[in-house]
Amino acid sequence: MNQPLDPSRRHTDAPAPIPDAPGTGAATDALTPAALQRHLRAAVFGHRIFYYPTIDSTNDRALELAAAEEPEGSLVLAEEQTAGRGRRERSWSSAPYAGIYASLILRPAIAAPRAPLLTFMAAVAVADALNEVAGLRARIKWPNDVLIGRRKIAGVLGEMRGSHPEVREMVVGIGINVNQTETDFPATLASIATSVRIERGVPQDRAVLLASVLEGFERRYARLLRDGPATLLREWEALSSMPVGGAIAVGGPAGRLDGEFTGIDEDGSLVVRTHEGALHRLPFGEILDTLLP
Ligand code: BTN
Repeated sequence: MNQPLDPSRRHTDAPAPIPDAPGTGAATDALTPAALQRHLRAAVFGHRIFYYPTIDSTNDRALELAAAEEPEGSLVLAEEQTAGRGRRERSWSSAPYAGIYASLILRPAIAAPRAPLLTFMAAVAVADALNEVAGLRARIKWPNDVLIGRRKIAGVLGEMRGSHPEVREMVVGIGINVNQTETDFPATLASIATSVRIERGVPQDRAVLLASVLEGFERRYARLLRDGPATLLREWEALSSMPVGGAIAVGGPAGRLDGEFTGIDEDGSLVVRTHEGALHRLPFGEILDTLLP
């Protein structure tokens, strides 16, 4: 079984092994709790950290911890995942010491149908941090893929257990490709994935990036609970890879739908106006790449 470092000793953790960055011989930094704490400005998120040099999935561990009453804001952080999971039962490529693999425990006082807003919020916080910290032009593809051009740089997996009318506990898992080189991705992802390092040509300090994501997430979370989702939805639309008012093709529960993208509603559903004028709300589905800019 994976053993975490004791979160109460996070300031004194001995640094984890520092491997050579593939391809360059240069050392990469370990993303230890102490490294993250040096940059963290969030008040609560990321202050209790369960850190694993290797784990199956940070989301699985965070769901266990949430069920065991770990408080809101606790973070599961790993240098490597052996069974990282993505949406739609896909796997998440998790090369050691290269990416950010993190899962945050939330206990939001919102109705269950609004839970997808928290994954939208994570995607906005990630895209914003990539743009501000790493100088990229990240965009979001509904529901919460973060892209550079057509290539995926980050993804978000929100999960909860049980079926209550209110969200009791939720885990938001964040995967960001940071210091991967082309050879760190499996061949099947070579043409569709990218990383900060591939885009910028230099390694990025993962602790600085994750601290920025957590701070942006916490700020938006407080605002959502206080004021509702309107500002978040506008922020999401401003970062959308598909412009509001533009043509869209979506694979949804009822097959392919073509029309105009009119935005996302307060439950996170994609709203499409078909050429016949009918409005369709899609709670889940996939934007078909044919019309991506
Ligand atoms: C997706 O785009 O399909 C979502 C990817 C989410 C990956 C992250 S990595 C940290 C956390 N643990 C997991 O097993 N998955 C999420």
